[in-house]
Amino acid sequence: MTTLPSLLSQPLRIRSWQFRNRVVMPPMVSVRDIAAQDGVDWYRRHAEGGPGLVIIEATGVPRFSRDLSATALRPLVDAIHQAGALAAIQLFPLDFGTDREVGQLSRTEIADIVQQYRRATRICRDAGMDGVEPHGAHGYLLNRFFSPAENPRHDDYGQTPAGRMRFGLEIVRGIRSEVGEAVLLLYRHTPVKDGSYGCADSLAFAAELVAAGVDVLDLSPSSLVTPGDHAAPFRHLGVPVIAVGGLDAPGRAEEALREGRADLVAIGRGQIADPNWARKACAGEWDQITVCTKCNKLCFGNLRKRLPIACTEWPEPAA
Ligand SMILES: Cc1cc2nc3c(=O)[nH]c(=O)nc-3n(C[C@H](O)[C@H](O)[C@H](O)COP(=O)(O)O)c2cc1C
Repeated sequence: MTTLPSLLSQPLRIRSWQFRNRVVMPPMVSVRDIAAQDGVDWYRRHAEGGPGLVIIEATGVPRFSRDLSATALRPLVDAIHQAGALAAIQLFPLDFGTDREVGQLSRTEIADIVQQYRRATRICRDAGMDGVEPHGAHGYLLNRFFSPAENPRHDDYGQTPAGRMRFGLEIVRGIRSEVGEAVLLLYRHTPVKDGSYGCADSLAFAAELVAAGVDVLDLSPSSLVTPGDHAAPFRHLGVPVIAVGGLDAPGRAEEALREGRADLVAIGRGQIADPNWARKACAGEWDQITVCTKCNKLCFGNLRKRLPIACTEWPEPAA
């Protein structure tokens, strides 16, 4: 299947940042150390495959008070830039792999996490990173603060829609007041959670996020029936929207763009199966792509076992 010129290959400008195309590598915990050679090599390889933006995996903000300095992160950022992609990083409110109950977090701890986001962003900016993305999706801590069914708090971080939005908004405002306009600010949010909140609730939250300074809304998952269908309503808020989830099959990412449901498309497992997905898809070379079978064995499977993620479609390494 060839669709030329591909909508995927169209550049996009967001403030002073130029995206070479519409393909994003979404955050995916690689179980490699992003400050060590194996992590740098992993991201260099994926950036060389052609996406316009690489969002580095969920990284706990406490690490920025320990081992992640600007100096430690610079090789990673440089590798992505040298390959022609923009570099953002997803920031997780706790050490990744740990969790806290929403109702148990003290106000002092909440304020401390906001401070850690500020510090992490400053270090990322100093490392040359183009963007940061608070992880507000997938039932993790920030998402549960927003979720009525999962936020039992009786103070002003719960109870009302404004209360449930508060933690996420404080992080966004904290980041903006720390670094001004010096980074692209993305926010990952799950648009619908059955039994807790719907799209209208998320739209109200997203409008507040944009007013607080978010540049790009990353909706995950956002392809339920048609590609990008749950991302589409967010485009009315006036900032670019990323759609993600099963968009790697031929035509799906293109459809999300063509039908005006998203501005950018993120390819996760498809990008693991074939690190050159973006370059090949932008050129319409669909028959050249190593297809992700969604077996989830060595990506999600390895993640669960805390082993470096890989793919059953890769050739066996030479003995
Ligand atoms: C191994 C693995 C690790 C992931 N880690 C993250 C993560 O760090 N943060 C996040 O928001 N999503 C994470 N995800 C979800 C992806 O970003 C993406 O939303 C999901 O894989 C759906 O897109 P796809 O169908 O193109 O794979 C991960 C997915 C995989 C397969």
